[in-house]
Order: sequence, then structure tokens, then C-alpha cells
Amino acid sequence: VVLDAGGLTILPAFVDLHCHWRTPGFEYKEDIETGSRAAAAGGYTFVNLMPNTKPVCSSAAQAAMVEQKAAEIGLCDVNQTVSITENFDGKTLDHLKTLPATVKFITEDGHGVQDNATMARAFAICTQRDITVMSHAEDMEISPWDYRLAEDIETVRNCWLSEYYQTKLHMCHVSTRGALDAIQMAKLRGAPVTCEVTPHHLWFTNDTCDYRVNPPIRTADDVSALIDGIRTGVVDAIATDHAPHSEEDKLKGMAGMVGSETAFGVCYTKLCKEEGLPLELLVHLMSTRPAEILGLAKGRLEPGCDADFVLVDLDTPYTVEKEKLHSKSHNCPYDGVQLYGKVCATIKGGELTYQAD
Ligand code: DOR
Ligand code: ZN
Ligand code: ZN
Ligand code: ZN
Repeated sequence: VVLDAGGLTILPAFVDLHCHWRTPGFEYKEDIETGSRAAAAGGYTFVNLMPNTKPVCSSAAQAAMVEQKAAEIGLCDVNQTVSITENFDGKTLDHLKTLPATVKFITEDGHGVQDNATMARAFAICTQRDITVMSHAEDMEISPWDYRLAEDIETVRNCWLSEYYQTKLHMCHVSTRGALDAIQMAKLRGAPVTCEVTPHHLWFTNDTCDYRVNPPIRTADDVSALIDGIRTGVVDAIATDHAPHSEEDKLKGMAGMVGSETAFGVCYTKLCKEEGLPLELLVHLMSTRPAEILGLAKGRLEPGCDADFVLVDLDTPYTVEKEKLHSKSHNCPYDGVQLYGKVCATIKGGELTYQAD
């Protein structure tokens, strides 16, 4: 491929630790092809998919089906995660004992495992089998009592289990000062914990935005805690939590927003332009570190391996237009927002997977 990259900046392609495509069961929101196109348009060449599909992904066979379809489309590599309890029933762990070694990540994905003994057994199994638990401890909005307290307890419990069993734990969409403090403490105590924040929890505050998303948009104080966490290195990665929904489903109150295509622009504008953080740190958060967490580092970043790159324009402002997104859904609260850091082209394995018009 010959590209005139005059004036653009070339970066390693992005790796998304947390993404919801909707196959099987909810393909009217997103399918593997539209999800792949959206990811490529956002500069991603690898995404890690959550299992809240229909049926829930509780088996290696279902995960392999999704990964195979994505490979056939060829625009974006995927890992499909598997549920911690079968069909998110909160108790059955039988499937974990027979998972093949290809399954490296399991998650409760917003369906918290309330029973401590069940979660402890899950962590113990994961240590033996070298599986990483991805925790959505902050998706407890449905809790019948004080949900913020319920979330903090879930966060602390999971960090505690990680320390006790030395199980690799990845905390998804960390969005509060309290959760980040708990994670920092767990890291200091030697727990193998990593964590991600989302672009929308860095960009929006709850005094100006009431878009429905899980975890909810938080206070300005929480946002400044996340940015401090990025500066000090407590935050490992930025992940999109790309959550496509139809207009009808949003009207019914479903939580989530699409995020693949706006992630780099939002983060570059907020963190580099406004907060003065170096571009190298953003690359670390969106590419290098997520690749390491997913165990891809050698495949992606060393000389002689896959040529996965993204070309970005850091100088020309552009306006987000939700109708122009490649995702099947347009639940995008950034519509009309002006950003820097437009993705101009994505190259995966030396092939062009996206080029802006
Ligand atoms: O807002 C959200 N929507 N947060 C999640 O973690 C799940 C997601 C979805 O699947 O729609
Ligand atoms: Zn979640
Ligand atoms: Zn999610
Ligand atoms: Zn539309």
C-alpha cells in the first residue's frame, strides 16, 4: 500500500480491552461486520468482546464461533470472553473446569456474582488455569440498596480475592475516586490487578451530562481522580465499553453508548490538548498496555511482527457526526462536538482496513 501520509502522525494501532458487539442474539444493534468497521474506523485492530449476548457466551465453542466470523471478515481481530457463571446465573461454575486453554478471560459483565464463596471458587480456578477475571464491579446500578456503596464493596472484594489467590484481575470502566483508591491499594499490596477507564468517564461530568450509561457519568471530582490516576500510572489502559443500542432500546432506557470511533479523538482532545499529557502516554494507554494485558505484546509490537498502524491528524479540528458512524447504532452523545485527533487510516497486518473520505 502506498499512502501519502503528509502531515499525519503514525501510531501503533489501538487495542480495545472492552467492547460489546452483539452476536449472537442482538444483531439488530451491531453485528460482527459493523462492529469490525466501527473498530477499524476508530483505529483499532484488536478488540476484546464481552459475553452479554443471547445466549450468554458461556462456552469455548460459542467464543470460537465469534472469533472465527471476525477472522473471516478480517478487519479486526477479536478475543471473545466467557461468562464467570453459566448464563450469568450467579452460581454455576461447572463450565470453567472444562474450558480449553484458549479461553484466557472471563467476566461477570454487569451481572455481579453476589455470593462470596462462589466468586472465591472462581478466582481459585482462574489462578490454576491462568485465566484473568475481568470485573464490572461498577455496574451495580440495579442494586436494591445504596448502589455506590454496593459497587465499592464489589470492587474491594474482588481486589481482595485477587490478592489472596494471586489471580489476575482486570477492573473494567473504573469511574470513581473510591474505586481507583481501592485498586491503588491492592496494587501496593501486590495483587496482580490492572484497570481501565473509558473515554466518556474522562470527558463528561454529571452536572452537564445525563446520558444513560453504566457506570453512570460521575462527578467532576471523580473525573479529576481518574486523570490523576492516569498521570501517576495507576490507570493501565483506556477501553471504549462500546455499547451499541437501537434508538428504540435507548428510549426504553437501556444504558450505553457507541465508543469505538470517537475514543482517540475524545482522549487526545481531553488528555493531550486540555490536560497537557504526552501523546506517548496516550499510546501506552490505548495500544501498548492493553496489548500486554491481553498477552499480545510480542505479536503486535516487536520488529518483524504484524504491521498494525493508525494514521491520525492531530492538527485539524473535526466535528463528530453520529449519522456518519460505521457502527449499526448511533447512540452517540458526542454528536456535534468538535475534537482533535481524527483517525485518517488504519492498517492491519500491512493492509488498509479503513481510510477516511
Ligand atoms: O452502559 C453499558 N452498556 N455498560 C455496560 O457495561 C454494558 C453495556 C451494554 O451491554 O449495553
Ligand atoms: Zn460493564
Ligand atoms: Zn461493558
Ligand atoms: Zn442513524
